[in-house]
Amino acid sequence: MHTEHRHAPAASRKRIVVAMTGATGAALGIKVLIALRRLNIETHLIMSKWAEATIKYETDYHPSNVKALADHVHNINDMAAPVASGSFKTDGMIVVPCSMKTLAGIHSGFCDDLISRTADVMLKERRKLVLVARETPLSDIHLRNMLEITRSGAIIFPPVPAYYIRAASVDDLINQSVGRMLDLFDLDTGDFERWDGWQTEK
Ligand SMILES: Cc1cc2nc3c(=O)[nH]c(=O)nc-3n(C[C@H](O)[C@H](O)[C@H](O)COP(=O)(O)O)c2cc1C
Ligand SMILES: *[C@@H]1O[C@H](CO)[C@@H](O)[C@H](O)[C@H]1NC(C)=O
Repeated sequence: MHTEHRHAPAASRKRIVVAMTGATGAALGIKVLIALRRLNIETHLIMSKWAEATIKYETDYHPSNVKALADHVHNINDMAAPVASGSFKTDGMIVVPCSMKTLAGIHSGFCDDLISRTADVMLKERRKLVLVARETPLSDIHLRNMLEITRSGAIIFPPVPAYYIRAASVDDLINQSVGRMLDLFDLDTGDFERWDGWQTEK
């Protein structure tokens, strides 16, 4: 008979925090959740108020359907959630999409909601933090925040399409972007074609 620790994840199961904010691109966050589910990753979802608004406006999902894709959902105001502490082990966090407001909050270390607090925990614990920062064009303030956060160890991943895939649909573009995001966590969605040199049959 072996002892089971109630809060210990199965040794092989990775655990990733997914935060969604009010930048455009709700579909990216949804696709990340779907991909992580298929890869059997334990997900902890945090959604901002404006993420809920963009989900309703931009997709066919209701925020409750998006929440149902995650293993655990934490309220953005719940500073007592497990993910708010560095002692709760995770394999990293992705903020997708990430608004300039949340980027600025993370940049300043001003942890006034659970998203910026959990991101702060990732940086202090030297864990992976990927920010799918979305805005265009970019101001001096945005660029400075991105540069300084990069120097602090986070990865800025703007959801910029690769035109060489000759995407036939938005779904195709999203799959490619999400595949490249999850590459950063050493996860392979298998949902997109990788560059393999010029294809000469054309
Ligand atoms: C439809 C819509 C699209 C938006 N797109 C962006 C965006 O791409 N980037 C951005 O930084 N803010 C965008 N915003 C503004 C943010 O939602 C706003 O700054 C909000 O305060 C972000 O808060 P949050 O980071 O807590 O979600 C958008 C707002 C709306 C309503
Ligand atoms: C995108 O990935 C999903 C799996 O997550 C797959 O079912 C779908 O066919 C893919 N879309 C395209 C256009 O390749």
